[in-house]
Amino acid sequence: MKTRLSVNLNKIALLRNARGKNFPDLDKYARLCLDSGVKGITLHPRPDQRHATYADVIAMSTIVSEYDGAELNIEGNPIDRFMEVVLENKPHQCTLVPDTPNQITSDHGWDLKKDAQKVTRIVRKLKDSGIRVSLFMDADLEQIEIAKNTGTDRIELYTEEYASSYGTKDSEGVFEIYRSAALFANKIGLQVNAGHDLNLINLEKFLTIGNIKEVSIGHAIIVESLDYGMENTIKKYLKILNA
Ligand code: PXP
Repeated sequence: MKTRLSVNLNKIALLRNARGKNFPDLDKYARLCLDSGVKGITLHPRPDQRHATYADVIAMSTIVSEYDGAELNIEGNPIDRFMEVVLENKPHQCTLVPDTPNQITSDHGWDLKKDAQKVTRIVRKLKDSGIRVSLFMDADLEQIEIAKNTGTDRIELYTEEYASSYGTKDSEGVFEIYRSAALFANKIGLQVNAGHDLNLINLEKFLTIGNIKEVSIGHAIIVESLDYGMENTIKKYLKILNA
């Protein structure tokens, strides 16, 4: 099975929220991705809703349901409001992330030595509702073993360290840690997703691990869209100005 790309649309929501109007329109870019063959959309509504909002989750559930085989992944810290929205909208997958309210971005996986009981309760609630569950985890075998006991279907490996070591002298060693973590997870019956700081340059190597079910990518897709699309846009402006 091929690895699914789930495009995280939070950065487009951030840009929209900067002006208080619906521009850029999140729905348009979700459709652009889905019409281009992408089979996954991710939203990460944070408690302060500074990127994707809870209302976006409702709209996105409808859009994704119009596309055959496409999946919606809603990720975030399972605070009460998040859980209400997820249980009402029933995305295909819910990725639980231990982020704190003012965190710039997710920067660590669950510490299940501390949070296993709470996480197990939430995993059960989501699964009882028919939602596949994934836990955002560091590449740490001991933690991954506890993750299995929570009843989760999948883990999402937090790939920041892989990405930041890519192309340095440490890259092979760090890659090996991720490879071992993914293989171990598979061996004990967990499916593996991955995300954070993956991009057009470092993705291919990561996928050589094999059997990665999904990669969730947001930030780089927006930056790379500037790289590959801004020149064209500037030319269009100049054409109008020079006419
Ligand atoms: N996975 C999780 C749990 C995240 O919080 C994020 C960022 O919101 C991503 C994946 C995607 O990371 P990036 O935006 O660096 O591609």
